[in-house]
Amino acid sequence: MNQPKIDEIKDGRGVLVEVLRVGACGTDREINNAEYGVAPEGYEFLVLGHENFGRVVETGENVRDLQKGDFVVATVRRPFGHSIYDTIGQQDFTTDAEYWERGISRLHGFMAEFYVESADFLVKIPAKIAEIAVLLEPLSIIEKGLKQAEDVQKRLDIWQPKTAAVLGTGNVGLLTIMALRMRGYEVHGFGKQTRAGYLNAELCEAIGATYDSTEELSIIDSAKKYGEYDLIFECTGFSPIIFDAMQSLNENGILILSSVTGGERKTDAVPSDKINQQFVLGNRAMVGTVNANREHFEMGVKDLALCEAMYSGWLARMMTHKIEGLENFAEVFDILENSSKYNAIKTYFEVNKI
Ligand code: BGC
Repeated sequence: MNQPKIDEIKDGRGVLVEVLRVGACGTDREINNAEYGVAPEGYEFLVLGHENFGRVVETGENVRDLQKGDFVVATVRRPFGHSIYDTIGQQDFTTDAEYWERGISRLHGFMAEFYVESADFLVKIPAKIAEIAVLLEPLSIIEKGLKQAEDVQKRLDIWQPKTAAVLGTGNVGLLTIMALRMRGYEVHGFGKQTRAGYLNAELCEAIGATYDSTEELSIIDSAKKYGEYDLIFECTGFSPIIFDAMQSLNENGILILSSVTGGERKTDAVPSDKINQQFVLGNRAMVGTVNANREHFEMGVKDLALCEAMYSGWLARMMTHKIEGLENFAEVFDILENSSKYNAIKTYFEVNKI
């Protein structure tokens, strides 16, 4: 694959980055199984990798915001579409059907030794959070969801949310629980597995959230136990659960959906009259969220740093599976396919040492 040269990047803003770590997630698994993703034009393959962390090696003549040795994380989507949102730098809100995302759609990703990118798409990372900074890209998606919730809730002159439910306690769920705890919410996490001996449950409790298995307590029953939620964040990948979530929201509450469910699943037995009436009479809201912009990455940097200060070592405990060297990709995909067997939360490549 041909990498562009630094001086081929527009406005002298090119940066050469040495890749240090690359995370792997469900999106990579789906692309690898040919269920998602698009190769760049002229290529029959796509270099994977969108959860990235690296170090600046060289900078173009007009890069004054980054220097050699700085740690960086690159954003994922590029403004190469035609929509007004691409034009104004809000490509995460594109209205085009196609989009350009490194390692996912039409652009090669970061599972490489080096990459070249414009400084405009690189976010500087403080050295103190280098060890866990590969978690920033998945966190950026959550930050965008929470920012959207905040923006939607500006419809209320006063919104003082207190309780939140997070559906799913995998990598994204745990990061969501963390981000909400950093904002002072009372947080209730839900997963499928039973609590005893489950690391993810222990991690919920270690930062002051509860954990319940939905096998033992449904989301609807949990709202009777804990009270209806001001905010619910869905990140299970299991779409039928959203109807339970819709029935567990407080008046004026908001439900955020973040799972990219590529399947064909359908569900009946939805109490549609009841849900509809609750939404109408309670001014409830629901918002979908995908991708993230620089602003959301920067919010994520702050939450990672705050979490390290408040619960030192907690984020590192999420980074359960480190695979050294890109050549060991088969191991990574085996872990992704069988994550519960491996008790994996975050699996990542160490490409070069920090
Ligand atoms: C990535 C996002 C991307 C989404 C849809 C996720 O795994 O983190 O950046 O927008 O997939 O392609």
